[in-house]
Amino acid sequence: MIGPRRVEGYVIVSSDGMIADINGVMPPSIQNDADQKVFQDALDRVAVVVHGRHSHEGGPRAARRKRLVVTRQIAAIAPDPAHPHSLLWNPDGAMIEQAIAALGAPAGAIAPIGGTEVFSIFLPVYDAFHLSRAAHAKIPGGRPVFVGVGPDATPEDVLARHGLKPGPRRALDAAAGVTLVIWERSP
Ligand SMILES: NC(=O)c1ccc[n+]([C@@H]2O[C@H](COP(=O)([O-])OP(=O)(O)OC[C@H]3O[C@@H](n4cnc5c(N)ncnc54)[C@H](OP(=O)(O)O)[C@@H]3O)[C@@H](O)[C@H]2O)c1
Repeated sequence: MIGPRRVEGYVIVSSDGMIADINGVMPPSIQNDADQKVFQDALDRVAVVVHGRHSHEGGPRAARRKRLVVTRQIAAIAPDPAHPHSLLWNPDGAMIEQAIAALGAPAGAIAPIGGTEVFSIFLPVYDAFHLSRAAHAKIPGGRPVFVGVGPDATPEDVLARHGLKPGPRRALDAAAGVTLVIWERSP
């Protein structure tokens, strides 16, 4: 939680825990329509989307959502010329509560949606983390979902280490090998 707000992360990873390739591009092997639908529908229900400067959920409803774009290019909080209903936010210069207040977001959840550093800084405060996995995809040398994911640690290891527990595995697209597990913080 951050104050009264739940914090819910959303990602799709390859079988080796990657969110993008070595160049920071999300390859088609981890893009899936069924996952996108679940993701976009979930973002319609949150109050604030948070992501790094190179990430964005895309889609026709993105322009309606309140968002914080994480960047070191400004000192604390600044207008975002690139997106509507959005502010630039540097976590070293302002608390997230200040950024959300400046954004004028309604009550509701905060949804971090990447990339690696942004997913990682919220690890201590996730109430839930929606971990989709494309089992047929591998991205050697790619960008991991969390700092430290790699040969010695899976995304699940990192979530468990931060006090989250897995729910049931749900098939989103059986033919494509895409599943979703929601990890939740135990009370
Ligand atoms: N598979 C998925 O579900 C998923 C999810 C998200 C992203 N992706 C993919 O991953 C790719 C790249 O991810 P990424 O991790 O390289 O990019 P990212 O987090 O979207 O952007 C990185 C930038 O965000 C800012 N930033 C990150 N952490 C910060 C911090 N702690 N404080 C201040 N600023 C911070 C910095 O911006 P400045 O350079 O402006 O300072 C940094 O250069 C994206 O292109 C996207 O395609 C995939």
